[in-house]
Amino acid sequence: MPIQTLTTIDDARAFVASARAEGKRVALVPTMGALHAGHLELVRVAREHADVVIASVFVNPLQFGPHEDLARYPRMPEADTEQLIVLGVEAVFMPSVEDMYPDGGRSATLVTAGHLGTVLEGRSRPGHYDGVLTVVAKLFSIVQPDVAVFGEKDAQQLFLVRRLVRDLNLPVEIIGVPTVREPDGLALSSRNAMLSAGERRDALALSRALEAAGSAADRGVESMLAAAQSVFQSDTGVQLDYLAIVDPCTFAFAGEQHHGPVQVLVAARVGSVRLIDNAIFSIP
Ligand code: PAF
Repeated sequence: MPIQTLTTIDDARAFVASARAEGKRVALVPTMGALHAGHLELVRVAREHADVVIASVFVNPLQFGPHEDLARYPRMPEADTEQLIVLGVEAVFMPSVEDMYPDGGRSATLVTAGHLGTVLEGRSRPGHYDGVLTVVAKLFSIVQPDVAVFGEKDAQQLFLVRRLVRDLNLPVEIIGVPTVREPDGLALSSRNAMLSAGERRDALALSRALEAAGSAADRGVESMLAAAQSVFQSDTGVQLDYLAIVDPCTFAFAGEQHHGPVQVLVAARVGSVRLIDNAIFSIP
């Protein structure tokens, strides 16, 4: 079946209604486009859970701050569609900003991420997660998928989306997919396309910091933080934004006495490009 390009909310609803009428299970893969192998992995996992896979490609203005990279965020709808065709995705939903936000790129009704939306990534990007949760809730309401698939690279986003579904009793199963990395460890990100060759090398500081934290896991939280921090002292091209260790079950900061699984989160600016990464380890 050729891919269906759905450009309006009405098109998307009609497409899903006919899939449902045939008794099919529907998966949604929400993206902002500029698709890379990490997104393709999300699609592959979605396929394992559904008969019909819909990828959404929408650069959501609501999740960008006034001084962020909304204007220069990569947009390549034709190339994205080509990749989705190769993967056999049934439909791509590419709505316009006007269709999603008839009041002009802003939404009067917001889903708030609460306190957790104001720490870590949310502290550096105020309002970001309210924008993410609002668009995710809208996409869930439009597509009404049985399952939705998100990458683990934005661990805070995945945590908040799971909580959104729980708190608002949304009938959708959330599946997290491990981060896809380049052979040298760099986590795949649409923003990597904005890095120069030198910045691309500098960007390895993020995954190296995670490795360093992991190798200090036997010595506890403070040692892990110190080990990760030391990577940024030698890497001058990279400006560390935050480095934190949380309990992956609650996203609360892990204290020095913490034992068991911990998630190390890092965000840094490489040139003008902001990157994030994370990894889970266990403190014995
Ligand atoms: O992770 C992303 O690409 C975006 O935050 C998402 C989930 C598609 C919402 O715009």
